[in-house]
Amino acid sequence: MSDPIPVLTIDGPSGSGKGTISRLVAQRLGWHYLDSGALYRAVGVAAGWADLDLDDAGALVRCTFDTEIGFRESDAGELRVLVNGHDATDELRTETAGAAASAIAAIPEVRAALKDRQRAFRRPPGLVTDGRDMGTVIFPDAPYKVFLTASAAERAERRYKQLKDKGVSVTMDGLLREILARDARDASRTVAPLRPAEGAVHIDTTGLDIDAVVERVLAAVVPRPRTSVA
Ligand code: DC
Repeated sequence: MSDPIPVLTIDGPSGSGKGTISRLVAQRLGWHYLDSGALYRAVGVAAGWADLDLDDAGALVRCTFDTEIGFRESDAGELRVLVNGHDATDELRTETAGAAASAIAAIPEVRAALKDRQRAFRRPPGLVTDGRDMGTVIFPDAPYKVFLTASAAERAERRYKQLKDKGVSVTMDGLLREILARDARDASRTVAPLRPAEGAVHIDTTGLDIDAVVERVLAAVVPRPRTSVA
């Protein structure tokens, strides 16, 4: 029996604008939102706090089971992420947390341990979720699937602006290298590699502003006839 609660999956590489777009689309639809990358980043941060070796898969799997991850909205309407009860939102966005998340995300048992936690976000009236394998592995039955891309140069530039605004000093060359390395790692891992789900609507966001992308994604969410009512 198919799940009647609709899901819109938005997958794509880092810097494709998934996070911003998904949040805005969720607001427009009045649906729940899950940033699945935050779960991997949260485990990465918890592993860092516990001083775990990123090559020790056993310890990282235990850490995944032991890490409590919560989401709450701040008074200003921002989504805050709690790791073991501590607000780790800012730490989660660092390059260190991103690199740790990418390494941890390659461990099959970690991915398996996070599966049910992700599926629990499917609640009425619907869910918008972004990540790498939302449409392929976690919600393969989602009625709406989008794959967002952008050129590596544009993704590096967006990240550069974000970090500069935060006063973090980085170089474009360094960022581009990191983005390409992360893409290669996320796409080449044997478990749940980054690839478009079958039937996903592809949107290249290079040169498009946020509103234009939001409208294109919303256009992908057109009511479809229910095929099975069991
Ligand atoms: O989307 P992000 O940059 O916050 O993701 C951080 C890392 O987590 C990314 O390098 C790959 C991994 N990830 C994943 O493997 N599967 C997901 N569904 C989401 C993120």
